[in-house]
Amino acid sequence: MASTKMDLPPRPTLFDFHGVSMVKYFTDNWDNVQSFKARPDDILIATYPKAGTTWVSYILDLLYFDDTISDCRSSVPLQERVPFLEISAPHRPKGKDLADQLPTAPRLIKTHLPVQFVPKSFWEQRSKIVYVARNAKDTAVSYFHFGRMNHVHPETGDWSCFLQNFIKGNMVFGSWYQHVNAWWDKKQTYSNIHYMFYEDLIQDSGREIDRLCSFLGLSPTTEQKEHVRAKATFDNMKQNKITNFSTLPLMNQSVSSFYRKGAVGDWKNHFTVAQNEQFDEDYKSKMKNPGLCFRTEI
Ligand code: A3P
Repeated sequence: MASTKMDLPPRPTLFDFHGVSMVKYFTDNWDNVQSFKARPDDILIATYPKAGTTWVSYILDLLYFDDTISDCRSSVPLQERVPFLEISAPHRPKGKDLADQLPTAPRLIKTHLPVQFVPKSFWEQRSKIVYVARNAKDTAVSYFHFGRMNHVHPETGDWSCFLQNFIKGNMVFGSWYQHVNAWWDKKQTYSNIHYMFYEDLIQDSGREIDRLCSFLGLSPTTEQKEHVRAKATFDNMKQNKITNFSTLPLMNQSVSSFYRKGAVGDWKNHFTVAQNEQFDEDYKSKMKNPGLCFRTEI
């Protein structure tokens, strides 16, 4: 049920946590999260916020469980099917507890943690990891609108102030630049990471579902894949109570819908020419990884 403003706790403040900007809602349960016991067949969906986490989570949930769904599970919202490992916020169960209690196999688990903070059992168990990345400019825009409506996040300030903080890495879960680069580097030594891009999903979700299936060792029929693709469209997910987060009290979707635009290139409606020049200049100095290329339009 949607909450009134009276129910909302004060916005948290950012602080430095082992070199990464965080808020208490993602560090309060830290020791328990760090001692999470991953299993070899767990699948971790890792992203910097706003990269398309929910989209990929739902695709994976459909690929694994749609055809075997039981009546009691069919009304379970996505945030409980795919728990958010590190969340420990008011009005919702701790993500780590939900993950521990997941009755499914494999367990699908979501995280926004920078790679150095991932509980070590995932590496020890060699769990599979799907990392989703989205271009920095659209991520910044999406994160701005998300911060305006989500009371788990600090006040955003206006767009220009938010953008400067994004460039500096003063964001919950830290710097986008460090996040995407460090996960990319990890992929070079840990072969169980499938690194994918939001822009590719927008361009051809069928092809990206094929790539996911081949990484996960799944062989759905053409009909099953088409069914997954069709159920996981932007419009369907926005309407679907399982996926639209309409029951989360700390998200005020009258400020901005979680399913806002779902597009590549919306940054052009937000960045001024001067902001774009500053951003590009700074970007060049931080993004030196030759193998890691993002598209800001398709
Ligand atoms: P916008 O704010 O640009 O619309 P996350 O799940 O990581 O928080 O990412 C949310 C972003 O992914 C939002 O971007 C949202 O609209 C977009 N998104 C979610 N599901 C989508 C879908 N099925 N197709 C396209 N974009 C989707």
